[in-house]
Amino acid sequence: MTQTAAGEPASKGAASNGAIPKEAAAKGAASNTATTGTAKGTASSEAHRTDEVTDPAAVNGPAAVSEPASGPVSGPVSGPRPAVPSLAELERRATSRRDRPAYGHDALISCDRLVRVFSTDGVEVQALQGLDLLVTKGELMALVGASGSGKSTLMNILAGLDVPTAGAATVAGSDLLNMDAGARLRYRRDIVGFVWQQTARNLMPYLTTIQNVLLPMQLRGRGRQRAERLKHADELLKMLHIDHCRDKRPQQMSGGEQQRAAIAVALANTPAVLLADEPTGELDSATGEEIFAAFRTANAELGTTVVIVTHDQTVASEVRRTVAIRDGRTSSEVLRRTEVDAETGQESLVAREYAMLDRAGRLQLPADYTESLGMEHRVLLELEPDHIAIWPDHTPAPEESTATEPAARTESTTHEEPASTPPAPDAP
Ligand SMILES: Nc1ncnc2c1ncn2[C@@H]1O[C@H](COP(=O)(O)OP(=O)(O)O)[C@@H](O)[C@H]1O
Ligand SMILES: [Mg+2]
Repeated sequence: MTQTAAGEPASKGAASNGAIPKEAAAKGAASNTATTGTAKGTASSEAHRTDEVTDPAAVNGPAAVSEPASGPVSGPVSGPRPAVPSLAELERRATSRRDRPAYGHDALISCDRLVRVFSTDGVEVQALQGLDLLVTKGELMALVGASGSGKSTLMNILAGLDVPTAGAATVAGSDLLNMDAGARLRYRRDIVGFVWQQTARNLMPYLTTIQNVLLPMQLRGRGRQRAERLKHADELLKMLHIDHCRDKRPQQMSGGEQQRAAIAVALANTPAVLLADEPTGELDSATGEEIFAAFRTANAELGTTVVIVTHDQTVASEVRRTVAIRDGRTSSEVLRRTEVDAETGQESLVAREYAMLDRAGRLQLPADYTESLGMEHRVLLELEPDHIAIWPDHTPAPEESTATEPAARTESTTHEEPASTPPAPDAP
């Protein structure tokens, strides 16, 4: 059983279940049959064929029919061959593909194949390697991942402090790759609020809490009048239970109080998004809870979308959605929801782990799953009515076999019970 970065065991089979809608899987069956004559394909790290099977978008489009079979069909063909689609049908599919809404069109935060490469002394570090992430308006979500996985790089990009090398990123309609200096400044001041891990970095040391909260509003200039600013700042302090520190300077306050004041500062200009990079990292767990409660309040009372990077187990398990980042990509996601038992009426929290299916149809399998079954380089896929089965490939290495075209081998395989008998390698 895979261990999520949040530390929760995934429910059985969750890593592959749920990621693909049933309907799409059924359509995938149809398109796969159309091109290969069998509902089985071989997936390798470069397998384009996998896209047709796993990408629900691709199966609706012309890719499913325009791409020729990856090899000659040499073995027995299971099932009847469907008729070749008419020109009108192909046109209809092309049109529906073209008219599909763009990726992340309804998300507040959208990262599409985001890449960030750092070059220092001729050494390249790929901090983000094609990261996809969508966050909807009003969400409160956590990002987790090992140190060095790219979390801070992503947060700095979302905060408008760093620019990605490639890909696309939009936050509340702002295109983070194409902003001039003025637009970037407005973005940082009006659209996003940011809370850093280092409590000292969030507040001006020589200003009191109320002065710190007023500062972003004063820098913005337009908007609220002076009296209105003061009223708004006092309301924020009250909401975050930090009003007793109104006239104190940071060094007169505890770490937890400073972080809550920092959240008030970040919320001063009523941003659409509140970003926090390990905001509880320097605090004990009880204080961490208080800080997290402040983020929850901002989310519930102001409707602010909140993204928190955290190592804190409690924080990660208290949000509805936790996304794990591995090697600069989103790798898995845990969704939590409350389920009510129909018989007893008892409520319970159900956490389910999902693997991420990227836009190219790529799926990252948990290492402990693949290792336990000896899966390497290549696996066999089998489409079932409501799921896709993945089997280890036991085809002999190239020197043992004369076959050169993997597709030809797999297509001729017609075993019925792969669970107990792995597919026998067939000579072409
Ligand atoms: N400014 C930088 N210059 C060079 N390498 C960097 C820079 N910032 C981050 N990196 C590298 O990018 C990778 C991701 O770093 P980071 O985003 O800070 O990870 P995390 O926050 O998940 O610990 C690391 O290998 C780190 O060394
Ligand atoms: Mg970091």
